[in-house]
Amino acid sequence: MKDPIFQSLNDQANHELFAAHSYLAMALWCKDRDFNGYADFFWQQSAEEKEHADKFQKHLLDRSKLPLPGPLEAPRTEFTTLIDVARHALVLEETNSCKIQACYALSVAEQDYASLPLLLWFINEQVEEEDWAHTMITLTARAECAGAIYNLDRHIVKELTSGD
Ligand SMILES: [Fe+2]
Ligand SMILES: [Fe+2]
Repeated sequence: MKDPIFQSLNDQANHELFAAHSYLAMALWCKDRDFNGYADFFWQQSAEEKEHADKFQKHLLDRSKLPLPGPLEAPRTEFTTLIDVARHALVLEETNSCKIQACYALSVAEQDYASLPLLLWFINEQVEEEDWAHTMITLTARAECAGAIYNLDRHIVKELTSGD
């Protein structure tokens, strides 16, 4: 594996860890305000992002490269409202999609064909990730009164993971 490919995949593994860290901060913010459903959803996302980092690191190991976890950027920890949190989730996912597409473009340019199936899996995964983030924004924006927000919070995990 050429150095630029190692850099790109190792950086992406670290970026997935940053995403895990970011969702953890969002889960804690929600839990602190007793939005227990949103907190559970973000804890699930945090665990998923850790699995994504594992996938990149496993790929590096399979190709005899030692993954190098780096220092993590501090996640955003302050939000004003639930819609602010939901919008931040979309920004995180859109940023991640761009980074994965840049990895893919580099692998094509460097003819690193072994990494393409992995990166295609992630490109597809990001379509789903952006989809739930858009849905979360729509549903959260629509729940205008306290009763509606309470009800949405109770059902948010089911709403966003039902797979349609
Ligand atoms: Fe991810
Ligand atoms: Fe994600």
